[in-house]
Amino acid sequence: MINIALPKGRLGRQVYDILAAAGYECPEILDSRSRKLVFENEEAGVRYFSVKPTDVGIYVERGTADIGIAGKDILLEYQPDVYELLDLNIGKCRMCISGFPDFYDDHERVLKVATKFPHIARAYYEEMGRDIDIIKLHGSIELAPILKMADVICDIVETGTTLKENNLVVLDTVVDISARLIANKVGWQFKNEQILKIRDALISGRDAEL
Ligand code: PRP
Repeated sequence: MINIALPKGRLGRQVYDILAAAGYECPEILDSRSRKLVFENEEAGVRYFSVKPTDVGIYVERGTADIGIAGKDILLEYQPDVYELLDLNIGKCRMCISGFPDFYDDHERVLKVATKFPHIARAYYEEMGRDIDIIKLHGSIELAPILKMADVICDIVETGTTLKENNLVVLDTVVDISARLIANKVGWQFKNEQILKIRDALISGRDAEL
């Protein structure tokens, strides 16, 4: 049995659709009213766990899941000790530094940066030798500069709509993001054949989308 940590939401659904088409289906997953978190197809040898996107790396690092689907943002932020097997080329977005269009970086002052991704933000500014004060938030990051709590934000930009509607702009791109297939290091050795089969199914599904 291969245990798969599937992120809740659109990305998880997209990946599930590819796997279902390759024979790893668990139709119960599609029932939006269901509150179930574990879905199993014994015949196909798969068990899916529906997990919070930020937790995928934890399940895979601990071996509770053999493989999982995680955004590169989550991998960079939490640095789980896992193998990254594949870039799925979906869930694409950018990690950006954003602020008001007239933002001026006054180096005499410590820069206040609001973010859900303190590790990524710190690494970005450390490389520049810039002193920052991280304000860790859990959502609605764009509010921080509007309310003058922060000078800039370090956050995901997908369509750019949230920034635009709040009169903010991208000041710099930190890194491009997409979804990755990750594997537990021990599971990769002991369940290698089954994991490779699933990886191949995901490669075919990804390439069919291109
Ligand atoms: C994310 C991100 C941005 C927004 C970017 O927030 O933090 O706020 O999406 O998307 P866009 O460029 O397409 O507008 P999310 O929707 O996850 O909500 P949150 O504010 O609660 O984190």
